[in-house]
Amino acid sequence: MNTCLAAPRTARQSDIETFGYREQGAMDPYDEIAEIYSERNLHANEAVRAARRHFIARLPDGGRVIDLGCGNGRDLSYFGHKGFQCVGIDSSKKLCSIAAASATTAEVLHLDMRAMKFPNGSFDGAWSSASLHHLKRIELPGVIQKIAELLKHGGVFFASLKRGEGEGFEVDSYTKSKGIYVARYEQEELGEVLSASGFIELEFSVDQQWVSFFATKAREDDIDGS
Ligand SMILES: C[S@@+](CC[C@H](N)C(=O)[O-])C[C@H]1O[C@@H](n2cnc3c(N)ncnc32)[C@H](O)[C@@H]1O
Repeated sequence: MNTCLAAPRTARQSDIETFGYREQGAMDPYDEIAEIYSERNLHANEAVRAARRHFIARLPDGGRVIDLGCGNGRDLSYFGHKGFQCVGIDSSKKLCSIAAASATTAEVLHLDMRAMKFPNGSFDGAWSSASLHHLKRIELPGVIQKIAELLKHGGVFFASLKRGEGEGFEVDSYTKSKGIYVARYEQEELGEVLSASGFIELEFSVDQQWVSFFATKAREDDIDGS
């Protein structure tokens, strides 16, 4: 699976749902801002670097990692350099191309995470930096359930999401007047969603803007209660 692709593979059109204002017939919002987004996010900040170190410390050597909403491939490149076998998925075709060019040992798929279908237990780790908040709130439990299924028992899941209340289109420095869909979360709600999908050992970290967590997919002996 450690495939080097010149360009992202495109999932079947019927598999790709739309999100945000793309539902109204516009193009993928991140396709419109792919170059500027990628340039401004070439380097991980200290919070992301610390989370990456903590994440890989919990993975088996050479294990399989999926990055959901991989953007420009910044974190895929890091995990690849550390010897992990990586798959990145993203709904922006342009960001997938940028990721495939930079994370040369990763397999990059142009795929909406709501439509992903990986065999159960395919991955040792699932990473999703700053991406899950673009789903509608009602969609998050279904995607978290899919993430639980694609992980092995004992697998680790990291995600960071925008913190706060409510959901809707938000204007930011990239999207300007059009806005982008954001659902905001607090730790308590995320904890309930994660527990409902069988995640254990939840570790949250919260600041003014972000809520981040590490979670473990219950091991078989955790489930047996032995
Ligand atoms: C704020 S960017 C974060 C990118 C990267 N993970 C990072 O930390 O720099 C959000 C990413 O999620 C992707 N995304 C949003 N909704 C998605 C979905 N339903 N399926 C797959 N990717 C999605 C966007 O295309 C974008 O690349």
